[in-house]
Amino acid sequence: CRDRVISPSLLAADFSRIRDEVTRAIHSGADWIHLDVMDGHFVDNISFGPAVVQAVHETNDIYLDVHLMVSRPDHFLPRFIAAGSDLITVHVEADHDVAATLRAIREAGCKAGLALNPATPFEAVVPYLDQIDLLLCMTVVPGFGGQAFMDEVLPKIEAAAQWRDEHGLAYHIEVDGGIDALTAARCAKAGANVMVAGSSTFRAPDMAQAVKQIREA
Ligand code: DX5
Ligand code: ZN
Repeated sequence: CRDRVISPSLLAADFSRIRDEVTRAIHSGADWIHLDVMDGHFVDNISFGPAVVQAVHETNDIYLDVHLMVSRPDHFLPRFIAAGSDLITVHVEADHDVAATLRAIREAGCKAGLALNPATPFEAVVPYLDQIDLLLCMTVVPGFGGQAFMDEVLPKIEAAAQWRDEHGLAYHIEVDGGIDALTAARCAKAGANVMVAGSSTFRAPDMAQAVKQIREA
């Protein structure tokens, strides 16, 4: 069984104090920091870009899990690599040569992740599964924090775990959107091991307790 990884999403943090917020996450037991990059085109929201990723990289020592919700991940890739990303996740629905982008991420020495939206079937990512370190199953329609977890994604997580085990692959399965201790437990049962959680961690009264509960759920 893979170790569970907790990746608090910076989107739910206080943006006026980003360095302190990342420090708070680290002290609360976070394994990774999840950075949601939104371009106002692939999703209906704009968050932050490579400069913020770089600022986090320079002020704190933690694994940077960068989720690119942008239409042209291939175009912006070099800037996120240079910013200090450890793992870069791109969407299968975006406008790019997916295999080429995944190759470019790995050639730069980063880990490669592939994401799919709730409406996208598992079959869409199958051609790329031997090229990835992580599969991100979105459990909300991406764009905003604080949305409700979508149960209908659970069978896709099970399919992804079954495929991985049957084909001798080793990718992590990450879930993102509406994750708290309750939904994390259901996702873990389905086969996910990397839990992205924004509102339920950064906005909890006790972040360390929230991280612990998601880890032990
Ligand atoms: C959704 C983002 C998520 C978001 C999760 O578009 O990809 O990472 O920050 O936020 P919560 O945990 O609040 O649903
Ligand atoms: Zn995300």
